[in-house]
Amino acid sequence: MFKLLNFKVLLSFLIGFAIGTVIMFGIVSSFTFKNNLSKLKAQEMFESEEILNISSKTLYEQEMADQLFNDVKILCWVFTHPDNHKKKVPHVKNTWGRRCNKLLFMSIEKDENNSDIIAIPVPSGRSHLWNKTRLVMKYVYENHLNDADWFMRADDDNYIIMENLRYTLAQYHSETSLYIGHRFAVDYPEVREGYMAGGGHIFSKKALAKFVTIISPNNTLCDNHDGEADDLLVGQCLKKYSIFIDARDSKNQKQIFPVGVEEHMKEMSNPDLSYWYWKNLWRNVTQGGLDCCSDVYIGAHYVSTQEMYMLDYLIYNVHPFGLQKNLTEKIPRKLTLEEIIKASDKKSFSPNFKEHELIHYVDDDEKYKRK
Ligand SMILES: *[C@@H]1O[C@H](CO)[C@@H](O)[C@H](O)[C@H]1NC(C)=O
Ligand SMILES: *[C@@H]1O[C@H](CO)[C@@H](O)[C@H](O)[C@H]1NC(C)=O
Ligand SMILES: *[C@@H]1O[C@H](CO)[C@@H](O)[C@H](O)[C@H]1NC(C)=O
Ligand SMILES: *[C@@H]1O[C@H](CO)[C@@H](O)[C@H](O)[C@H]1NC(C)=O
Ligand SMILES: *[C@@H]1O[C@H](CO)[C@@H](O)[C@H](O)[C@H]1NC(C)=O
Ligand SMILES: *[C@@H]1O[C@H](CO)[C@@H](O)[C@H](O)[C@H]1NC(C)=O
Repeated sequence: MFKLLNFKVLLSFLIGFAIGTVIMFGIVSSFTFKNNLSKLKAQEMFESEEILNISSKTLYEQEMADQLFNDVKILCWVFTHPDNHKKKVPHVKNTWGRRCNKLLFMSIEKDENNSDIIAIPVPSGRSHLWNKTRLVMKYVYENHLNDADWFMRADDDNYIIMENLRYTLAQYHSETSLYIGHRFAVDYPEVREGYMAGGGHIFSKKALAKFVTIISPNNTLCDNHDGEADDLLVGQCLKKYSIFIDARDSKNQKQIFPVGVEEHMKEMSNPDLSYWYWKNLWRNVTQGGLDCCSDVYIGAHYVSTQEMYMLDYLIYNVHPFGLQKNLTEKIPRKLTLEEIIKASDKKSFSPNFKEHELIHYVDDDEKYKRK
């Protein structure tokens, strides 16, 4: 017994030694090999301008973003008010706003020092948001319909990565009436379909046109009384006349946030479903760490001016040296109308959700087949 054990120990020692030697040799040689390789690359980078040019193109996918800039045109209208003309407007313009194809600021007063600010004559205060929203949409429809394919309503405390929004919208036709954003479920019989909450929601050209010309003027389809909950009321008016899309990537990860994205990075075994935010989410999110949220993140709400610059800095300026992005992302194919409706009609996970009639009135000119 003792002898046998001893022999086994000796044998495993010898085998271990042999394996160890081979591994050591492997590590040493692969280390040397890698070292040579990186030296060679560094030299090439200094010697050949061409390599630098090619790598800087692939790093930022510049060509793809340029193509999308022309193919997926987005007009951004940013809600602001006189107190924020100086405090917020210049900072939106300096950061994400300058990447919109067209940028408009909608206030209730003109500003002699800033001609980008458009005055929509409604009384001051949140209780007039609904009238303001309807007048703004009419203004945009009458003056800028042909400037873009998509129309985003944002607040002056949203932050949006326009390139990722274009990437997402590239899947859709703007001639179909679509309404895209962060979808919330609430327990009101008037909006079983949910609504897009928290700024940063997008109307297709057709949705904007339908809203302004057909839906908003019709008192049976759309509430005519002024009020505060403009986002909920837009949802109520557009249900049935527009397909609602909760912005998710191909892995079903969330792209648009009505709060800061960091809310979803908190470790939480069971989100508290009695708290409004978790309760209202149309579809749930894997909570905690990096799995919560899309790598094709579009944007968030309640972003301070300082955070706008920080996000711009981290997203557009900082790049981990020597790392290339994984270039497996392609411009996505267009979805069929059937695919879009099917995704829109998926049941919500929210406890607020109630079964409802699934109706989509789609005009003939909105229908299309995949080419
Ligand atoms: C690299 O890019 C720079 C600046 O865009 C340009 O001037 C230069 O000609 C390019 N070099 C090559 C080899 O393409
Ligand atoms: C415009 O700028 C001038 C000069 O800085 C200032 O006196 C004036 O109050 C500004 N007007 C508004 C509406 O902020
Ligand atoms: C308003 O909408 C209702 C319901 O769809 C419809 O019956 C009615 O004809 C519309 N009114 C006008 C003036 O278009
Ligand atoms: C809000 O708009 C409606 C018409 O769309 C109008 O009748 C009402 O007077 C407006 N309310 C205010 C406070 O301006
Ligand atoms: C979402 O909620 C459903 C139903 O409660 C559950 O089955 C599913 O695992 C949840 N998914 C995530 C990602 O939390
Ligand atoms: C790039 O993505 C592909 C497909 O998702 C994956 O197989 C591969 O491992 C990734 N490469 C890197 C370096 O992350």
